[in-house]
Amino acid sequence: MIKALFAGVSNKYDVMNDSMSLGTHRIWKTAMVDWLAPRAGERILDLAGGTGDIAMRILKRSPQSQLTVLDLTEEMMHRGQQRAKTVGGHESIQWISGDALQLPFANNSFDSCTIAFGIRNFTDILGSLDEVFRILKFGGRLLILEFSDVRNTVLRQIYDRYSFAVIPWLGQMMANDKESYRYLVESIRRFPKQDEFAAMIEEAGFKRVKYRNLSMGIAALHSGWKV
Ligand SMILES: C[S@@+](CC[C@H](N)C(=O)[O-])C[C@H]1O[C@@H](n2cnc3c(N)ncnc32)[C@H](O)[C@@H]1O
Repeated sequence: MIKALFAGVSNKYDVMNDSMSLGTHRIWKTAMVDWLAPRAGERILDLAGGTGDIAMRILKRSPQSQLTVLDLTEEMMHRGQQRAKTVGGHESIQWISGDALQLPFANNSFDSCTIAFGIRNFTDILGSLDEVFRILKFGGRLLILEFSDVRNTVLRQIYDRYSFAVIPWLGQMMANDKESYRYLVESIRRFPKQDEFAAMIEEAGFKRVKYRNLSMGIAALHSGWKV
């Protein structure tokens, strides 16, 4: 179901991200790359990397990093590959079709793993965190950017109205697909809140788990280390 959903929206995915978040996803992704602080030679997995937005941002910051994008939906990656060709400078990205629950990599093989707006769609979140722990080297780091919980009641009311009324409508207008965007909004509300999600990351074995709220909790960045 998830694969069909993202295959269906792949053509409009990047433009929809800009429209739905009013461009804010760019600020959040920049914050993620800032916190990651990638260095030359590091091997980095962008899990559920979709159209490669995060991978390309990391490469722009650190052109000598080695980027692998893994995603369940080939159509999303095809879109990313086309975009990488137009922009240029991203030829080194390795694109792999696969499932986060069964990563086709050896133990201890990556320096870092990023997951942006992907993990809430995984059918087994804890299973995928175990997999990331397995493939990271000792000293390796996991960074997750995901929609989260808005604690301010006034902002939450505005945000709820926007999410349930405007986003499905935008999905219908721009991608002719109201239901997929309604599902995406509902999946945000089902996802664990900041502290609960931090506890899940710890359960998978990660240490020094921290998070930062972005835009008052509309999104959050979680970080954990395999040490
Ligand atoms: C909302 S998109 C995020 C794409 C990209 N990370 C970004 O921030 O623009 C979610 C992605 O997760 C992928 N995905 C969902 N379940 C997956 C799984 N089990 N394994 C790998 N990728 C998965 C989807 O195919 C989709 O490309």
